[in-house]
Amino acid sequence: MKVLVVGGGGREHAICWKLAQSPAVTELYCAPGNAGIEAVAQCVPISATDVETMVKWAKDMAMDFVVVAPDDPLALGMVDALEAEGIRAFGPRKNAAVIEASKAFSKELMKKYGIPTAKYATFTDEAAALAYIDEQGAPIVVKADGLALGKGVTVAATVEEAKNAVREMMEEGKFGASGSTVVIEECMTGPEVTVLAFADGEHVVPMPSSQDHKRAYDGDKGPNTGGMGAFSPSPNYTPEIAKTCMETIFLPTMAAMKAEGRPFQGVLYFGLMLTPQGPKVVEYNARFGDPETQPLLMRLESDLFEIFNACVDGTLDQLDIRWKEEAACCLVLSSGGYPLHYEKGLPISGLDQVEGAMVFHAGTKRDAEGGFVTNGGRVLGVTALGDTLPEAVANAYAAAKPITWKDMHFRTDIGKK
Ligand code: AMP
Ligand code: GLY
Repeated sequence: MKVLVVGGGGREHAICWKLAQSPAVTELYCAPGNAGIEAVAQCVPISATDVETMVKWAKDMAMDFVVVAPDDPLALGMVDALEAEGIRAFGPRKNAAVIEASKAFSKELMKKYGIPTAKYATFTDEAAALAYIDEQGAPIVVKADGLALGKGVTVAATVEEAKNAVREMMEEGKFGASGSTVVIEECMTGPEVTVLAFADGEHVVPMPSSQDHKRAYDGDKGPNTGGMGAFSPSPNYTPEIAKTCMETIFLPTMAAMKAEGRPFQGVLYFGLMLTPQGPKVVEYNARFGDPETQPLLMRLESDLFEIFNACVDGTLDQLDIRWKEEAACCLVLSSGGYPLHYEKGLPISGLDQVEGAMVFHAGTKRDAEGGFVTNGGRVLGVTALGDTLPEAVANAYAAAKPITWKDMHFRTDIGKK
């Protein structure tokens, strides 16, 4: 089978690494990929958001199967466009990807189908939004409606902070069109857990739990990033909570999407908060999380390509998906200054001395001499297994020791909370 993976970050490296182990995958391509992905797949220089060129290439090259991993091409309808050409594609269609692409849609869905989440109101009028904040008081949460690279959320401790967030989004256009509609939510409390689930339109099969660290610095300080590390499983996610989530959140969400004529096929990402009133949805994503995917796929024993096919065929219920008992931790090594200003093109040393871990590349390329250089904010994800979570964490940090470059940054508290 000729398989194309769309995307070029650490998540796509992990997906390619796992797919390359499948006996059914005889040719593996990744677009655009990165310098680390080249070790397991042939990289094709097409931007992940260039739907037309991507679909034409997949057709011309007779791809049997395409995995659309990032949010943008999903929201743009890349899966629909591939299907229109008769190409099998893993990932939700545009009308289902909206569960991530529009918070106003996902909040409305949860309200309509009684899926537990924070109370909210949606505004396109700034004055009404400001008045609502005065009425509700703080703490309160302000979100841009559309995709904002995970940075469109303000958890405001004061009314003034919340109002400023609204002004930035609606007056100053900080997130462009994504911020012209804002969602204002009740502030929930409790530990956060992430559960990714395979979905085939009908059935949903949760993966083991995970957690990521979104802030740039230790102690959850500093700006929000795409994720500075992740681990699996989450100690907060007990079998009892898992059962509650299945009954009150996972199955109802699948049924709701189907009832709306938007059956969800792909990976459905549940960002959950374990509140005193029970588990509630913080957010949905329509795809694998990055970096959650890296530790999760290291724990996966089953053939990933078989799972992807079952999702497309609607036969997930017939698969027995197996996971390793071991825990896993991914430590992200980022460029100094990420997520704001950072240099690119810095030579990376020590990669050949790493032992006992997988190094998934997020933002790297080769320089003229063939060495690896930095090419993004998140650069590498050093991912290790361990018998327990603390061991997996210790193994990831130990394995990362030899790696360095100018201004390299990482958090020292991944998996330690
Ligand atoms: P989101 O992009 O919706 O996942 O939000 C980013 C982060 O903001 C979440 O991981 C939570 O830590 C926090 N957050 C979002 N919504 C709420 C809420 N209603 N109450 C408390 N914290 C929230
Ligand atoms: N790690 C969070 C995300 O992928 O959205």
